[in-house]
Amino acid sequence: MAVAFENIKTGIDILRQFLVPKMFTVKLLEFAESEGILSVMRETGNSPVRTFGGGSDNLWTREEFYSAVHRRLGYETGNAVRKRMLAILLDFLEECGHISQKKPGIYTYNADAKTTSPLSSEDMEVMREIFGDQSMFFDKCIEYAGDFLKGKNYLFGFNKGMEDVWNRFLGNYEFSFARDVLLKLMTVDTIPDCNILDLCYGTGHGLERICRDFPDADITAIDFTDDMRPFAMSRLGKVASKVKWIDAGRWNGFGSNLPFEVMVFDMIFFSCGDPYIPEHLREGVYRDIFRVLKPGGILGVIAWGYPDRSKRHIQNEWVRRGIYIHDFAESVCNGWHGFRDIDSTIKMTRKIGFVGANAVFNNFYMLDSAVWMFKRPEV
Ligand SMILES: C[S@@+](CC[C@H](N)C(=O)[O-])C[C@H]1O[C@@H](n2cnc3c(N)ncnc32)[C@H](O)[C@@H]1O
Repeated sequence: MAVAFENIKTGIDILRQFLVPKMFTVKLLEFAESEGILSVMRETGNSPVRTFGGGSDNLWTREEFYSAVHRRLGYETGNAVRKRMLAILLDFLEECGHISQKKPGIYTYNADAKTTSPLSSEDMEVMREIFGDQSMFFDKCIEYAGDFLKGKNYLFGFNKGMEDVWNRFLGNYEFSFARDVLLKLMTVDTIPDCNILDLCYGTGHGLERICRDFPDADITAIDFTDDMRPFAMSRLGKVASKVKWIDAGRWNGFGSNLPFEVMVFDMIFFSCGDPYIPEHLREGVYRDIFRVLKPGGILGVIAWGYPDRSKRHIQNEWVRRGIYIHDFAESVCNGWHGFRDIDSTIKMTRKIGFVGANAVFNNFYMLDSAVWMFKRPEV
């Protein structure tokens, strides 16, 4: 326990330097400037035919902003994913003080916003050493974001040939730390020889840890594609043969029922998959997870919540910025639907019947809203 505690403390100390959000705040602002998004904001609303605001105030609504970037930058704002990216960018710029709302829904550009300083050379060194893979992924996504907004196809998907990209990104320090913490929490009051499901195993980062932390458990792995399976198996080495791999032919992904009987798993580990569930299918997906959990079984989820305006759930400005940056960047990946409203998640999971339906941490630096445990009550 003492070692686990030391590891967690070290992890928090590293994450709470907020190097990734600090570096990418600068990069996302540079993106908004170089794409011409900030000049659209500076100029939108300066037309003399404004119907509100009047005077020399530069006031505009979200819809006016979307139509201005469509007209001037060629962004496909009729597409829901691209429009959502722009909405995230607005929230991010507001968080950074570059725009503000004069009245709800009516924005203005702030020319005198505080600038964010680039990282020092020592911080850059830590960044490269510890957060290099996360940073490379965000860099590629943000570099591509302009083309994507103009209608180009997705940059990355979960198909063959993408294993290395996902493996490097998904193995990043922040996610690895979150998986470790969640698995430690799930171990408490769980029998060691239990049935565990890794839902959407990807390149196998979660599975590797599940095999390590639950050596006596029966472990099942499922994903909607088999394309990453050889990679995940080679990561596990000899232990791969202990895992029961479900062929993708037996599951069509979110929206179709998991190919299991009712009440078979003691634990379901669902890491970084929630943002890939289409909104209209989300409740059904969680109902199905509930169905296959045994009474008393635990669902562990890693999924950041979208920063709430009231700052009741997520207060720290760097955590908030980090979540906006991540959500914006990963939007260029096929199937991404984004981080979800925290209150809606709590309401939905309670409605289904889960108890303890809350993010485990509040005000816990990088993990605010990210690590969730839900329990199917004993009958
Ligand atoms: C970001 S990866 C997370 C992988 C792994 N759980 C981890 O923590 O490293 C997202 C996962 O969701 C899966 N996925 C994406 N779209 C899906 C869909 N429509 N239905 C089911 N799974 C999907 C991918 O195959 C991938 O395994």
